[in-house]
Amino acid sequence: MKNPLALPIFLVALTAIWSVPVCAADTDSRQLVEMPPEARAALRTEMLGFQTALHLIIGALAEQQFTNAADIAEKQMGISAMGSHRNAPQNARPGAFMPTDMHAIARMMHAASSEFAKVASSGETTKALASLQAVTATCITCHRSYRTQ
Ligand code: HEC
Repeated sequence: MKNPLALPIFLVALTAIWSVPVCAADTDSRQLVEMPPEARAALRTEMLGFQTALHLIIGALAEQQFTNAADIAEKQMGISAMGSHRNAPQNARPGAFMPTDMHAIARMMHAASSEFAKVASSGETTKALASLQAVTATCITCHRSYRTQ
């Protein structure tokens, strides 16, 4: 770094960036949902699965592979994917710790994904995308309303 002030400025900026999450936590209006670490771990794994599924669905839509998009949505996010923790011990079942409204959003996500699968099967990109947005709306609704830490 040629500018003698570059390093100090960089460090100050870095400190500022680091402190942001701390400030954000102070003013975080999302409802804290407490879960045992096992349930949180299961939830996180499930979430990463949803994110990957969404990524694959968008790719399939871009290539007009409607059946593939519908298949991924139904199997990995739809009604078919509900109750995946049914046989896990109680402390590893995230749904058991969700407030009623949060659980309802989770069910809406599964239902919206199954609806997307139906719409996507019709082979119309515009309709499929609109229907996919109803799915992502549920991700946003939940993430903006609840936190686990
Ligand atoms: C019913 C509520 C709810 C819905 C619906 C929901 N999420 Fe989440 N999601 C959460 C919570 C709570 C966390 C935080 C988990 C934790 O770290 O304890 C989370 C975390 C995540 C994470 C971060 C995982 C990590 O590694 O920390 C991703 C990615 C994610 N969600 C993707 C999605 C996507 C994509 C959708 C929609 C298809 C979605 N979620 C729908 C509640 C939800």
